[in-house]
Amino acid sequence: MIKVYGVIGDPISHSVSPDIHNDAFSRYNLNSFYHHFHVTPTKLEDAVKGMKAIGVRGFNVTIPHKTAIIPHLDEVDETARAIGAVNTVVNRNGRFVGYNTDGFGYLLALKEEYNQSLDDKRILLIGAGGAARGIYCTLVKEGIANVDIANRTVEKAKELVNDCPYENHTRVFSIHEAETNLNQYDILINTTPEGMSPHTERMPLQLHKLKNDAFVSDIIYNPLKTKLLEAAEQKQAMIQNGLGMFAFQAALAFEIWTGIFPEVERMKQIVLNKLGGTEC
Ligand code: ATR
Repeated sequence: MIKVYGVIGDPISHSVSPDIHNDAFSRYNLNSFYHHFHVTPTKLEDAVKGMKAIGVRGFNVTIPHKTAIIPHLDEVDETARAIGAVNTVVNRNGRFVGYNTDGFGYLLALKEEYNQSLDDKRILLIGAGGAARGIYCTLVKEGIANVDIANRTVEKAKELVNDCPYENHTRVFSIHEAETNLNQYDILINTTPEGMSPHTERMPLQLHKLKNDAFVSDIIYNPLKTKLLEAAEQKQAMIQNGLGMFAFQAALAFEIWTGIFPEVERMKQIVLNKLGGTEC
């Protein structure tokens, strides 16, 4: 019998996830199908019960359900619990178990594209929302202790640091303070939606004080080159867009479901084809 997988979210119709997972299922002959399900917040509990009742084998969770789903699961992995968000659920003998592959997906993409040790590097994370939570907690859990956070609402960044149970040396700044101290950082990571389509003219902070050999990473992949990345490139910085994170989080979810770690480059290419662009 065909195994059913999917993604739940609101809105969901533009999700690229069905394209990449269905391609991987057919490539590995897994007789499985992945569909996007539009689930509004008031229907979340019923949707989870329904998926369990009909034997859905696994699913992704996206905005706005990543935190709200936690009480509806049978078990939540330690890192996902620390992050406070689940983006991947697997059906283990009728029990729904939640994971978070966003943070580790980001880390794998960063390691692939940065190509240097992260141990002694100073990192500035911009933003303190759901995406920042996953990335921050994963970096410090993996022993990368020099991660500071800049956020519009400084209090929210402090909360993020307090909520994360792993040892760290994090300092928290306003955006303006971060702009002033930017030359202290080797790596900048934008997790805010500033610059995402359709607001492509925006950027989360100014780069006047960026170090010459800095690496600037934006988790946005639409557009592939945000205004922040354009500005970083003009300052001779190395840049990375969000395509790698998206592909690696999906690959890790696929591995949780099937035991197979799929070809990440192929996943990136499918997203690129769908966006109609070329890698920057
Ligand atoms: P996500 O779950 O995608 O990370 P989120 O939880 O809404 O989204 O968080 C968005 C992050 O981007 C927050 O840190 C937010 O700052 P606040 O904590 O001050 O709300 C930040 N953000 C959103 N719009 C912004 C803007 N116009 N300028 C600066 N930061 C912004």
